[in-house]
Formats: sequence, C-alpha cells, structure tokens
Amino acid sequence: MCGIIGYIGKNDAAPILIEGLKRLEYRGYDSAGIATISDSGKIEIRKQTGKIVELEKVINQFPVNGNIGIAHTRWATHGAATLTNAHPHVGQTGKIAIVHNGIIENYATLKKHLENEGRKFITETDSEVIAHLIERHYLNDENKDSNNPLARLEKAVSDTVKMLEGTFGIAVLCDDIPDTIIGARKGSPLVLGIGRDAMFIASDINAFVTYTKQVIYLDDNEIVTINRDTYQTKTFERAPVSKDIEEISWDIDEIGRAGYDHFMLKEICEQPDSVRNAFIGRMLHEQATAKLGGLKLSNKDILNIDRILITACGTALHAGMVGKYIIEQLSGIPVEVDFASEFRYRNPIIRPNTLVLTISQSGETADTLAALREAKQKGATVMGICNVVGSTIARECDGGVYVHAGPEIGVASTKAFTSQVTVMILLAIYFARVRGLSRDTANEIMKALEKLPDAIQSVLDSRDSIKKVAEKYVDTQHAFFMGRNDQYPVALEGALKLKEISYIDANGYPAAEMKHGPIALIDEQHLTVALAPDSPLIEKMIANIQEIQARKGKIVTVTDIKNQMIEKLSDDVILIPKVHPALKPILMAIPMQLFAYYIAVARECDVDQPRNLAKSVTVE
Ligand code: M6R
Repeated sequence: MCGIIGYIGKNDAAPILIEGLKRLEYRGYDSAGIATISDSGKIEIRKQTGKIVELEKVINQFPVNGNIGIAHTRWATHGAATLTNAHPHVGQTGKIAIVHNGIIENYATLKKHLENEGRKFITETDSEVIAHLIERHYLNDENKDSNNPLARLEKAVSDTVKMLEGTFGIAVLCDDIPDTIIGARKGSPLVLGIGRDAMFIASDINAFVTYTKQVIYLDDNEIVTINRDTYQTKTFERAPVSKDIEEISWDIDEIGRAGYDHFMLKEICEQPDSVRNAFIGRMLHEQATAKLGGLKLSNKDILNIDRILITACGTALHAGMVGKYIIEQLSGIPVEVDFASEFRYRNPIIRPNTLVLTISQSGETADTLAALREAKQKGATVMGICNVVGSTIARECDGGVYVHAGPEIGVASTKAFTSQVTVMILLAIYFARVRGLSRDTANEIMKALEKLPDAIQSVLDSRDSIKKVAEKYVDTQHAFFMGRNDQYPVALEGALKLKEISYIDANGYPAAEMKHGPIALIDEQHLTVALAPDSPLIEKMIANIQEIQARKGKIVTVTDIKNQMIEKLSDDVILIPKVHPALKPILMAIPMQLFAYYIAVARECDVDQPRNLAKSVTVE
C-alpha cells in the first residue's frame, strides 16, 4: 500500500509531486508528505495527516521550492496515521530523506541495533530505519574517504537494501547530491518515467502519465539512479542492468472522472466498453474458439491439464469462483478456488499437470504474488489474469491474459470484475474446445458475448430506478446476499461491494445455506438481496425467498423474468434483460454494484476511498 513518487526536472517539484500523489491516493490516504531539495540546497519537508488536499493546504501556506523532490501517500501499517509517522522520513542529520512503500519485517532488530549506536528514532514506523541506515552507511568512516558523494550514496543504498527483510519500493534524496534521486525495489512496485528534461519514479504510472508514456519497470533487487536526463539501473550488488523502455498506450483522459461524481460510478458505467475490450479480437468464429495467445499453451498442454487451481483475493477471487462453474461445465476440468492468503501457507498439492491461475486487477497484491511464487516454486505452470499491464504478477507468470479494463481507480473493484469473468468465459471456451466442446455451443456463447455490452448498457440506463430502490434501504444495518450456483459468487461480490463502501454489515451465502444458520438473523429490519435470474433452480430460489418473507425480512430480488411469485414475495424487484445463461453472472453484477453505490452515496460515505482500505494491497 502507500504510493510514492519522485521528480527531477526543470520545473517546481512540489505541484508535480502533489498532482502525482493525487493519482496515487487510491493506494492509501491517511497522511501524506513531500521532501524537496530547495534552492538553498537543504532538504525541506512538509507533511500532513489526512488526504492529499490537506497536504496541499500546508504547502500553500508554507511553500517549498526546488526542482527535485520525493513524495508519499500513506496507508498506515506500523504506527498510527499521525503527522510524525507520515513520510518522508529522515536520518539523524536531515541530510537524507526517504519515502517507502512496503513493510520492513526486520525493522525492530535493525532499530535496536541503530539505537544502541546512539541513533534517535522519532516515529513508530518501520520505514524510519531505512533513512537511518542509509545515512549511517553514507557517513561512515570507510565511505567518508570517497570524495564522490554519488558513489557513496549509491553504495549506502545498496548496503542498506541488502540488510532489509520484507518488501519495499523506496526513493531517496540526499542534499549533498541535489541533482539525483535513487530508487530501489524488492516486492513493491516501482516504475521509472522518462520525460523530456525530466525523470520520474513512482509506485505506478498513473502518477506521471500526464508527463510521459516512456516507462521502465524495475524488477526486484534493482536500484536506479536518476538525474534530469539520465538513469542507470543496477542490481543490489551494483552490477549494471540494461532495461527496455516501454511505451504505455493509455492516457490521462482515461483516468479523469469524466464528469461523473465518483470514479466508481464512472467505472461502473464504462462496463459496456470494458467488457467489449476483454473479448474483442479474441473470438475466432470460424474455428469456434477463443484466441488467447498469451497463455502460451499448446493443445497438448491443454489436453494434459488434469486440474486447475485458481487463487486470488477479494473481488478477483469472486471472479475466479464464477470461472470455476463455467470452466468445469464447458471443459470438464476440475477447478479449485482458494484465497491467495490461504493458498500460500497451506502446502497446496500441485502435480505436474496442475495449472495455476492467478487473478488480480492491480497485479501487485502481495498475497496473490506470494501464492504465485509458491506455486511456481512447486513446479506449477502459472498463468495471470491481470488488468495492469507490466505489473509484477503479469511479469512473473509463465503466461497470461490481460483483461484490458483500463485504469480502475475506485477502491471498490467493479469493471475489473466483469472483465475478469469475461476472460474466464473465453478461457473456458478455449480449453473446452480443445477437449471436445461442440462448435455450436462455443459459437452460441461467443455470439451472445458480442451482444452483452448492449444488455449492460440497458441496465445502466435504468440506474435511476435502481437508485430509487437503493435509497429505500439507506438505513439498513445488516444485509444478506443470496444466490445459487454461479450466482453464489455474485452474491459474495454484491455483499463485498455493499460492505466496503457503505459500512453496512453485509454477507453473501449460497441460498440453500440460509436455513443452516444465517436465517436466524432475519427480522423486520434485515435486508436480503436475492439473486434470482431464470434458471433450472429458479423454483428453489423462490422457495428460499419465501423462507425469508415468512420471517418478515425485507427482500430485494434481482431477476430477469417477470414472475408473479417473486413480485408477491419481494418488497422490491430489479428487472434486468435476459442474456445467455453463461453470461448471467456478469450482467447480475451490474445492479449489485449500482445498488451498493447508491446506498453509499445516500449515506454520504467516501465511495472512492472508503475508510481503512486501499486500492492495491501490497502488504501481507
Ligand atoms: O488488485 P487485486 O485484484 O489483486 O485486488 C484484490 C482485492 O484486494 C480487491 O479485489 C479488493 O477486494 C477490492 N477492494 C474489492 O472491491
């Protein structure tokens, strides 16, 4: 979590850093700070608790100048969200300032050691040790002999990072070298932006995309030294590494709010396009299959797969759960789905023909990344279904598929989910065709997929009526979401959306499980959202709705059929268009997202940046 940015160029650093921080705010937003090397040659720091606008106010009141600086937006892990704990952190002399994203697991030992040497710590953070260690190495006797401060600083950073256990993306300033920023990465993302007469370093490209599209992704165990017009990448051992410059294809218009009140609503409304982007160019009607070249699997490889393990977190996990139903149904390959955080520690059984699929919007989620590494270490072929191009998970997988949803800024994941499920459907068709699925079935689903964006648009066009329903339940305290079969993961996703942005206690269940315990909670105040699209199980769903109604619970049913029983039993019905059964999880997710969104707005919650959360969870 946390976002970092560094800038060196010809312009005033502060406004550029603030602008970059605002685009990184989704990574954490409980305090922020910047450090520049001012025209006087000294490091100047401004910090504030709360969001970036609060820091901006401080800088307006107490300006900082200088054409070089680093900045940070924090999601607290070690120490409360106080002014003191906000980054940047400095060593004893104030010569060195750092910003850090990640967690230093051995910070307590390092801190004790440094304290024994007489160093004074002022924060509760793990990050402060980095500043002290770099300063200590930089100023130590052996190094003092060197009259090249840059070489000394590079060595100090290299010596420091080799002592750190855990994860980090850091940027370092030293006032002896006012034209240089040093960055280093292990386990937390760090990307270099190469501008005209300017260089950037940041946790992700959002931070500087207005200035340059030329980027270099640093890999783990790499250090970079940047000046205004040059950069040098090295290993932690200081051996030069040559890196390719990549050109990113999206631009700033794609990350603005484009007139919507919130990023979340914008992203919900983008789904006709984002879903289309996930399938466009990937359907071969002639051969009645999907084209997913990035998987790098031959037909023989696909025939040999005897089990698929899907691992992910949060919304991405729910997309994987939907994938299980469709992959098993179409291809006959058994699929297991597991929380990445559990997968990594439970000694998962991986056989030579097990295929592991990791799903992640950001491609940086620490638990998913660790699960991926665990699977690879056990010899599995690991595929990644990611949104962020060039992200760590995307790069570390043996192959994969980008979902092409475009930047997702709202902390609550929406368009990434529907794009992930779209890709799961293509994957199921691709695998299933190699293993004997009929041309007709494959083409029927693919043709239906082409019409899905229109169906999504029609749900979006009816959003005012969903808003009216949502607003009736603004004072709800507890909610259940229930569904059967592939609607069960959508129920989990609906509950996750509602709880994370509105703070209503919401839980998802397979509808038949209600009678095994949860139904005990039903009373006149309790809301149940029933996911009941037409299916062979519709009568059973109606029976489950009846059980809630009999206990006087409030019921909102989302369905795609006009059914008198549903109307009679439900307090409200949200009617959506009928689509191919395989695509219903995608379409049903849209009213869930809108329902959660409008309740949260009516409760005056911070929809895009809900409390205690961050967009990219890069800590364990
Ligand atoms: O970037 P990822 O898809 O790996 O993120 C996984 C979860 O952290 C994420 O889906 C989270 O649950 C969202 N806040 C859900 O809206």
